[in-house]
Amino acid sequence: MRQAGRFLPEYRKIRSKYSLIDICKDPELAAGVSRLPVDILGVDAAILFADIMLPLEGMGVKFDIADGVGPVISTPLNSQIVDSLIPLDHSGVPYVMEAISATKKSLESRVPLIGFCGAPFTLASYLIEGHATRDFIKTKKLMYKNPKTWHLLMDKLSISMGSYLSAQVNAGVDAVQIFDSWVGCLSPADYHTYVLPYSQQVFSYLEDREVPRIHFSTGTAALLEEIRQVGGDVFSVDWRIPIDVAWQKLGYDVAIQGNLDPVVLLAEKDLIRTKTADILTRVGNRPGYIFNLGHGVLPETPPENIRQLVEFVHEHTKSTTH
Ligand code: CP3
Repeated sequence: MRQAGRFLPEYRKIRSKYSLIDICKDPELAAGVSRLPVDILGVDAAILFADIMLPLEGMGVKFDIADGVGPVISTPLNSQIVDSLIPLDHSGVPYVMEAISATKKSLESRVPLIGFCGAPFTLASYLIEGHATRDFIKTKKLMYKNPKTWHLLMDKLSISMGSYLSAQVNAGVDAVQIFDSWVGCLSPADYHTYVLPYSQQVFSYLEDREVPRIHFSTGTAALLEEIRQVGGDVFSVDWRIPIDVAWQKLGYDVAIQGNLDPVVLLAEKDLIRTKTADILTRVGNRPGYIFNLGHGVLPETPPENIRQLVEFVHEHTKSTTH
C-alpha cells in the first residue's frame, strides 16, 4: 500500500496538477499512477489507485482527504446519520470500476491487479473520530455506550464493502485486500464481539469467487488468533512480531504477507539487506509467503532503496526455489 504514493517524483509531478480525488476519478490517470511502481520499482503486483474513503461518498458521507493528514470528515457521526446511511449496491462506485478496466488494460497482464476496500472497523473509526487519532476514544465510547448504533453502522459498512469488492472482481481485479489499518487498538474480546462478524461478512460476498482474499492490519500481534477466524487466504502482519511466530499462530494452511518496518527503508543499504534477509530466512522455503512491508511506504523513502530491495528479494527467491 502507498506504493504509488508521494515518495515517487513521477507521482508528485502528477499530484502538482491534480488532487488525489481528481486522479481517482479519472480512469486513465488512475491507471497510469497504478502502473508507476511496476515500471519504476519492478514490484510483482499493482494496486488499484483509489482510497478506502471513496465508496463512502456513495453511502452519503461527505469527506475530504487532506495533504499530510488523510481523511477528514466535518460532520461528526451520530445515530441519525447512521440511520440515514445508504448501503451501496453491487453497482459499486462506477468510476472505480472504470479505473479497474483501464488499469488492467494498461498492465497488459504483466502483473496481477489488487483491488481493495477499507475494513468496517477502520472506516467506522474515520466516520466517528472525523480524522486520524491515536487513542480511538470516540470510537470505543460509541461501541460501549451505544452498541445498537455501532452494530447498525458496522452492518451497513460490511454489506457495502462486500458489494463493492464483488463489483471490483466483476470489473477484473485479480485479488482483493481489506485494510483494517487501525484495529490493533482493540482487545481480543472486543475484536471478537464488535468487529469479527462484520469483517467476516465482507469476505462472505467473495466466497464463491476465484480470487485470493488478503486481510491487512497493523498492531495486531495479540489478535492473530481472532483475525484468523475472519477467513480469507492471506494475512498481512506488521513488524511487531517475528514473521515465523505470526505464521505459527495463524496456521500453515493460510498464506502470510509482511513484515518489514517501512522505516528500515530510510536506513543504509546493508541494514536494509540484513533485516530483509532475516525475514526471508524465518519464512524459509515454505510456500505461501508474499514479501511486503508491514505498512505503507513513507513519503521520505528514496525510490532507489525500494528498487534495490525488490531486486534483493527477487535474487533471494531465485536462489532458494527451483
Ligand atoms: O499505492 C497505493 O497504495 C495507492 C492506493 C491507496 C491509497 N490509499 C491512495 C492514497 C491505497 C491502497 C490506500 C489505502 C488507505 N487509505 C488506507 C489503508 C492502508 C494504510 O495505509 O493503512 C488508509 C488508512 C487510507 C486513508 C488515507 N488516505 C491516509 C491515512 C492517507 C495518508 C495521509 C498522508 O498524506 O500522510 C491518505 C491519502 C492517500 N491515499 C495518499 C495516497 C497515495 C497520499 C498521497 C497523496 O495525498 O497524494
